[in-house]
Amino acid sequence: MMLSEAVQTEIKKWMDLYPAGRQRSAILPALYAIQRTFGYCPVDAQNELAAMLELEPAEVGAVVDFYHMLHTEPKGEYHVEVCTNVPCMLRGAGQCMHHFEEKLGIHHGETTADDRYSLDHMECLGSCGTAPMVSVTDRKSGQIRYFEQLESAGDVQKVLDLVAQGKAFSTLERWTPQGDPELTGRAAGPYRIGGMDQRFLTARVGKAESHTLGTYMADGGYETARRVLVGSKPEEVVELVKASGLRGRGGAGFPTGMKWGFLAPAMPHYLVVNADESEPGTFKDRIIMEYDPHQLIEGILLSAFAIKSELAFIYIRGEYYFGYTRLVQAIQEATAQGFLGEKIFGTDFNLRIVVHRGAGAYECGEETALLTSLEGYRGHPRMKPPFPAVEGLYAKPTIVNNVESICNVTHILRNGVDWYRTFGTEKSPGMRIFCLSGNVKYPGLYELPHATPLSELLVRYGGGPQFDEQPFKAVVPGGLSMKLLTASQLDTPLDYEAVQAAGSLLGSAGVIAIDSSQSMVKVARRTLSFYREESCGKCTPCREGTGWLEDILLRIEEGGGRAKDLDLMARITTFIAGKSFCPFGEASVWALQSNLAKYRAEFEQYIAHTNPENDLPVIPIRPIYRPDTGSPSVATDSTFSLVGESPLHRDTPVRASGD
Ligand code: FES
Repeated sequence: MMLSEAVQTEIKKWMDLYPAGRQRSAILPALYAIQRTFGYCPVDAQNELAAMLELEPAEVGAVVDFYHMLHTEPKGEYHVEVCTNVPCMLRGAGQCMHHFEEKLGIHHGETTADDRYSLDHMECLGSCGTAPMVSVTDRKSGQIRYFEQLESAGDVQKVLDLVAQGKAFSTLERWTPQGDPELTGRAAGPYRIGGMDQRFLTARVGKAESHTLGTYMADGGYETARRVLVGSKPEEVVELVKASGLRGRGGAGFPTGMKWGFLAPAMPHYLVVNADESEPGTFKDRIIMEYDPHQLIEGILLSAFAIKSELAFIYIRGEYYFGYTRLVQAIQEATAQGFLGEKIFGTDFNLRIVVHRGAGAYECGEETALLTSLEGYRGHPRMKPPFPAVEGLYAKPTIVNNVESICNVTHILRNGVDWYRTFGTEKSPGMRIFCLSGNVKYPGLYELPHATPLSELLVRYGGGPQFDEQPFKAVVPGGLSMKLLTASQLDTPLDYEAVQAAGSLLGSAGVIAIDSSQSMVKVARRTLSFYREESCGKCTPCREGTGWLEDILLRIEEGGGRAKDLDLMARITTFIAGKSFCPFGEASVWALQSNLAKYRAEFEQYIAHTNPENDLPVIPIRPIYRPDTGSPSVATDSTFSLVGESPLHRDTPVRASGD
């Protein structure tokens, strides 16, 4: 037997958390336990897990293969992952990766000879406002810590020193060179937070002990839940949320109360909180979970009461390890206080909350893929209809709501619908947490009413362009998937209707500023690298099409572009958008479509000159295979040139689609 008694006991404990007959849901937490024990998921251990879950070994293997955070080969003692996605790229992630490569003496994708460090690129980790950043995973404990604002070789060295001194995991609070308890005596604290004179969703963030029950209760926490559970009917709560006009904050903007109203009557009902915040440029839910978890729990209590659910799940992305620990701790506090569990506030209402960690798959942010993942399968989307409100988790009626949406419910019920509607517009009411990243002076989280002009967010709060001599060239208004706005559209009000009228969508309110020094070709290439990497593989247009586009963009980037590539790419995007099970198809090409349409001259110029505008290449996210040797092209010289003179895309045709 590979699995020790302790690991088996832990796995059984996880299995007991899920409803009877649904033990397969424990597959991800069980695999985390295995990975913590062995440093990866050995096949024999997978087979023993399969026996415990009464599955075929291949079913467990298929899950391991799907999720980025599960490994089939041992990683180093410390797994360093540098985020190179677009918001981090705009602030020097390539340079940050180079520093790590030089200091560790390895290329990304490799492990040091002493098995101490593995180095990899990573997709957005929800820290875009403090880019460039890395996460470090301690193989033995499974703990993950974020190190942010790593702007110089010296900053990178400080991180490696902390690891070498065994101090990297003395706390899980995020670390920055300015907020280093070892060096400055103070912790980094949360992000730069700003916005309205009086903030609501982010009011406690930044206060001492903001995550504790004591702090939350001192601000009147759980009093709204007490009043509503004791004095209201669930249907009344649904009507109030409908009247408030609250729209989902995860990206689609669907009215929350209307969604609740679609719930089929068959019981049981489940509430699932979508905390799989993975849209590049978005980092609001993470901060709520880390610094104000009780706000979310009270919102869950009210929402679960409204939809008559006695079991709620928080599906949190696996990389948010600190947020996960804060949620678990907060649920324990709330349960001990009688705010969760049986007969809450002396009523007949019971509620249990299970926190479930994902394992690295952007697709699981899509609600049906999330449910499939929560059930213990690969995170593939399902056909809709039936919608989750009719047939969701375990084929039961289920409501899936985003973290920020759920938090809004508490404020609506505490202060009333009229109060809520004093913010924003008729169709986009309420305040919004805007995530500002990229080339501004002060990236951060800003809680502002809907319809705040984009220019006000960028200039009044963001301080304007990062460098005065480099004005804004483009802005992504709602997370990396959304279509680009140009510098002439900065007066666009940030509400659902106005952003749509401007040709894009408000999405997750992840606003990414791009200045005039940036290459739109590189932005396009890195965006498509992300979508190729994150396609779940279910639909052919997404799976193959994103690869074709990335291949063409790589070839252009390396100096082998052709004028006709621009129309070719535009044509390929039409084979993807609207041709897949879920919105991933559109999401993967919208940014490129708008980029090609609005910045075509820049692409043409780039191709004409085949002359990169920046000294440093964008880090490719996978080794480039040279056709002559069949082996990865790995730089061995001291400059650690990553793209180099690969002949691949110049001398060989671009897959079958190439022309
Ligand atoms: Fe790097 Fe979001 S954390 S792009």
